Amino acid sequence: MKLTIALSKGRIFEETLPLLAAAGIQPAEDPESSRKLVIDTNHEHVKLVIVRASDVPTYVQYGAADLGIAGRDVLIEHGGDGLYQPLDLNIARCKMMVAVSNDFDYEAAVKHGARLKIATKYPQIAREHFARKGVHVDIIKLYGSMELAPLVGLADAIVDLVSTGNTLKANNLQAVEHILDISSRLVVNQAALKLKYSTIQPVLDAFASAVPA
Ligand code: ATP
Ligand code: PRP
Repeated sequence: MKLTIALSKGRIFEETLPLLAAAGIQPAEDPESSRKLVIDTNHEHVKLVIVRASDVPTYVQYGAADLGIAGRDVLIEHGGDGLYQPLDLNIARCKMMVAVSNDFDYEAAVKHGARLKIATKYPQIAREHFARKGVHVDIIKLYGSMELAPLVGLADAIVDLVSTGNTLKANNLQAVEHILDISSRLVVNQAALKLKYSTIQPVLDAFASAVPA
């Protein structure tokens, strides 16, 4: 039975290779050097489709891919409709944080009940976080380079992913709140799991056995 797995280029693809290997799956090409969006594997019936990280849940939701790997950030923003999420793969780990310029007094702004301008690629996560705190915010949706927003006066704070902290540091920003721990999860189309159970379940088991500690 045919199996299609949706992956994004870069860190998710790289960190998924050992999991695929555990399931006996080897990509025929590297998406970094190939322009192909459908990548064959050593298994005649298993192919990989290369999509934007934030599009992975959509491909799986509509059954264009049976399986996919997506960050918790992306899954929360997507909403998870039609997706079964059986496994935290513990890869692409980072933290969702609130960050501000080094010279911005975040505590004071929050304490005084100021209305904050928040730039982010993650409006859902940001909105929920500040609603929980009872802080009024205006969300400014960006698609990348969030770190620039406080430097040019577009926003008071950003909600973004932080790993080493190097990007914040290089831009004179600091993290002031931790929102969520992020890692990537396996997502499965619910109908595909039923129809292709005997093909999908061994892949799930192999991935589970190879999850990094
Ligand atoms: P898109 O192309 O859809 O805009 P993207 O550029 O954010 O997505 P990647 O940078 O490949 O895509 O990130 C994929 C996932 O890896 C993110 O959804 C997140 O869960 C995780 N991630 C992002 N940045 C880091 C980081 N610095 N360290 C570790 N994991 C990260
Ligand atoms: C992510 C994130 C931060 C950076 C944090 O960007 O959006 O900018 O990583 O990592 P650090 O704390 O280790 O510096 P990424 O490298 O994925 O770039 P992109 O969003 O442009 O793909």
